[in-house]
Amino acid sequence: MIPSKVIKKELVSRGIAHLFLRPLKEFKKPTPGQFVMLWVPGHEEIPMSISDYSDGVIRITVKDRGPTTNYLIYDLPVGSYLGVRGPLGIGITNDMIMGRGLFIVGGVGIAPIAYLIKSYHPLVRECKLLAGFVSRDEASVVDELRSYLSVEVVNEELDWMTVIDLLKKELSNKARYDYYIASGPKAVLDHTVVMMPKNVIGYLLTESFMKCGIGFCGSCAMKGFLVCKDGTLIRADKYVDLIS
Ligand SMILES: Cc1cc2nc3c(=O)[nH]c(=O)nc-3n(C[C@H](O)[C@H](O)[C@H](O)COP(=O)(O)OP(=O)(O)OC[C@H]3O[C@@H](n4cnc5c(N)ncnc54)[C@H](O)[C@@H]3O)c2cc1C
Ligand code: FES
Repeated sequence: MIPSKVIKKELVSRGIAHLFLRPLKEFKKPTPGQFVMLWVPGHEEIPMSISDYSDGVIRITVKDRGPTTNYLIYDLPVGSYLGVRGPLGIGITNDMIMGRGLFIVGGVGIAPIAYLIKSYHPLVRECKLLAGFVSRDEASVVDELRSYLSVEVVNEELDWMTVIDLLKKELSNKARYDYYIASGPKAVLDHTVVMMPKNVIGYLLTESFMKCGIGFCGSCAMKGFLVCKDGTLIRADKYVDLIS
């Protein structure tokens, strides 16, 4: 566990904040798609994707879901310390994103994709990001990515559409893609694997309930696949086997 200082907090919208953490000991440069187990004193240890990393500073993007995330966003003082374990899980290497890619994101599933886009930005110029959020406010979290690639965003509050509606529209335009990466709630992943053409290589960033984060406790298991250790990145064809 690496003690890490909270050096900055940015409220992105109602219920979403970026937290910037400086680890006090060596922290290996993360690969996009990796996550950390974040120990919050007085609360729980929770998994959080790395949404950016530069100059030795880890950024995480937290959505208010319950007591620990609410505390992180609204009450945690800048200058305090959290514990960080990681980087954990299998990340996305640049050889996986050759050609034209489609990124399909629901909600805070944007966090690992943001780091991916920023890390590999020369490779994603021709790619497209489809993102869906519950509220118009939350959707502003993608604004920092608009200069890197084509972005389409919807929110349920104003557009009455989800990212799956955007995906339907995109596929009806007969756009061609070499690969896709989906990240977000299970419903988004499940619809995406069914809708995308089978000849397009697909990767998913899955979420599961995690305790140890390193393959010991089994709480994240999906039919023997340990999401924390064998994932969270998973090939779409393998995911289809696991959920069927
Ligand atoms: C690999 C991974 C990466 C994640 N990345 C992010 C991220 O970048 N930003 C973000 O806001 N959230 C992320 N999450 C979800 C985040 O871990 C939960 O929102 C958080 O644990 C909720 O804790 P809470 O005490 O605030 O709420 P609680 O009331 O404890 O839980 C609210 C909901 O969060 C989920 N949850 C709770 N505890 C866990 C746990 N130990 N493991 C997994 N899910 C849990 C459950 O679905 C639960 O119903 C990620 C989860 C995983 C597995
Ligand atoms: S969280 Fe313990 S095995 Fe995955």
